[in-house]
Amino acid sequence: MSRIVYVNGDYLPEAEAKVSVFDRGFLMADGVYEVTSVLDGKLIDFQGHCVRLARSLAELEMKNPHSDAEWLAIFREIVAKNAVVDGMVYLQVTRGNPGDRDFAYPADDVAPTVVLFTQSKPGLANSPAAKTGWKVISIPDQRWGRRDIKTVQLLYPSMGKMMAKKAGVDDAWFVEDGFVTEGTSNNAYIVKGNKIITRALSNDILHGITRASVLRFAREAQFEVEERNFTIAEAQAADEAFITSASAFVMPVVEIDGAKVGSGTPGNVATRMREIYLDETRKAAL
Ligand code: PDD
Repeated sequence: MSRIVYVNGDYLPEAEAKVSVFDRGFLMADGVYEVTSVLDGKLIDFQGHCVRLARSLAELEMKNPHSDAEWLAIFREIVAKNAVVDGMVYLQVTRGNPGDRDFAYPADDVAPTVVLFTQSKPGLANSPAAKTGWKVISIPDQRWGRRDIKTVQLLYPSMGKMMAKKAGVDDAWFVEDGFVTEGTSNNAYIVKGNKIITRALSNDILHGITRASVLRFAREAQFEVEERNFTIAEAQAADEAFITSASAFVMPVVEIDGAKVGSGTPGNVATRMREIYLDETRKAAL
């Protein structure tokens, strides 16, 4: 079934949804994006994604083309038009089409390009992978220095995903200066006893919206949260490991570079945090 795609104010059949070859998103990866999940037709953690979108745009000196209320209306409309029950909304805002290629940013009167599309994933919250967990490998983090901005320049994360696939595993964890930064498209955690450990926020990692919610729920559930660096060796020796993202929610990690984490099956803390995250965010979904 053909999807309805949003392009600059219009809702179009996907074959008619087009942007210019001069768009800076295409030529320069000069754009930002958000992925928001949909469960039971409602948006999960929507407000957090709106706040991060505004921040990414501001960091790149791009105007936010819409208020949060307008974004919510557009998100709801695209979900409704595509009859999404479970799945994702992908949003991209680029610096638009200045009509030519130039390294300098165009003048302010060039309108941004705004695109949204949906991905339907029936049963997204009941992913069988959550019952078995992911296996990951570690690879050097060779991305740029502003990973806190959610830009569309995703070539190295794509290369990392392919390295993982070729190694027969599910994902890769990036390592820089001996410490794990994050996964190709998710934040990384380890668990020791009652303590959940994850790298502190900085320009080195994306400030995950799922991360923020999970850490809040973890503290409320009386887990200890420690935001600090950890190594692959520490992760392999941990009781549990997991990742978080808008599309995978909380996903246990059961093997790192061929070494089992804990028993090699999803741990209690990861499983519990997944349940809490899904319960709480479903209740607050818009
Ligand atoms: N990726 N780190 C990176 C590098 C990411 O790309 C993502 C999200 C996250 C988790 O952020 P959040 O919890 O806000 O989804 C961390 C999305 C899902 C993607 O690119 O598809």
